[in-house]
Amino acid sequence: MKAIVVTDPTAGTAGMTLTERPDPAPGGNDVLVEVHASGFTPGELSWPGTWADHLGRDRTPSIPGHEVAGIVRSLGYGTRGLSVGQRVFGLAAWDRDGTLAESVVIEARNLAPLPGDIDFTIGASLPISGLTAWQGLFVHGRFEAGQSVLVHGAAGGVGSIVAQLAREAGAYVIGTGRAADREAALDFGAQEFLDLEHDELADIGEVDLVFDVIGGEVGSRSAALVRAGGMLVTIAGPPEARPAEGIAVDFVVEADRAQLGELATRVRDGRLRTRIGRVADLGGAVAAFNAPERAAGKTIIRVRA
Ligand SMILES: NC(=O)c1ccc[n+]([C@@H]2O[C@H](COP(=O)([O-])OP(=O)(O)OC[C@H]3O[C@@H](n4cnc5c(N)ncnc54)[C@H](OP(=O)(O)O)[C@@H]3O)[C@@H](O)[C@H]2O)c1
Repeated sequence: MKAIVVTDPTAGTAGMTLTERPDPAPGGNDVLVEVHASGFTPGELSWPGTWADHLGRDRTPSIPGHEVAGIVRSLGYGTRGLSVGQRVFGLAAWDRDGTLAESVVIEARNLAPLPGDIDFTIGASLPISGLTAWQGLFVHGRFEAGQSVLVHGAAGGVGSIVAQLAREAGAYVIGTGRAADREAALDFGAQEFLDLEHDELADIGEVDLVFDVIGGEVGSRSAALVRAGGMLVTIAGPPEARPAEGIAVDFVVEADRAQLGELATRVRDGRLRTRIGRVADLGGAVAAFNAPERAAGKTIIRVRA
């Protein structure tokens, strides 16, 4: 099969090449998915799982990309819950070959049915941003209707979904970002916007929940905004400062079939949308990931038209 591989941890996206790889075979509880669309996050080239398996053994050349939308083509021994020919989407394991390929093998529990009226491109844009937003808000953040939520990077991949989910669930949403992000953040559901480069974060006052996707200085200054009993949820690594009378949680997103279903339901009925920037085919993927000008939104690779 055709696949994009990486072999050099220091080369970044410039080290990606399109090549031929053996077709993967599903093991126990696995599903072989014919990839129609793939999502890749540049940060994954710095994750250990991209370069080594769970025992620390070199696994290069490895295939990046962890988000997929496609069709089930075969099932491994004992695999239940999904059937051949079914449309699916989900999250590939961090330390196995990924989705920038014509086929990928994924554990069944990491996939969910993709309704027929959701395009594969949209399906592949949802798993990481959507699950991260869902888990940060509802699982780790223990959000409750009526709370105020400060969403950093509210025009970005994760933040735009946090803003939409929080708003729908009854939050007062304050989004942040750069000056140019204002319109997009308000459009995704933020009721107020704070320009992190020009406005004073402290002017926001206290909030119930901070959802931080930026970390560093922004994350540290945000800890002081969390009211007593509130939460600082971060996906930008361990927090450098903690709320004086609140809880700080950092986490890494996990696959979850039920949550993928919740996200798909909201996309179907128009309550949720993802921000897609470039769409390229597998032949154009390396160029798309190395494009000189940045495009807001996720780059999705349509492996099959
Ligand atoms: N722990 C996890 O499970 C997990 C899951 C998903 C993502 N992540 C990580 O979370 C981060 C965000 O992911 P994403 O997909 O949402 O990224 P993204 O689409 O690039 O969104 C981040 C947004 O924040 C803005 N931003 C970043 N730094 C800023 C600053 N100093 N001041 C103002 N605005 C700033 C960005 O603006 P510009 O584009 O202009 O910089 C962008 O709009 C990434 O580092 C990603 O690797 C972690």
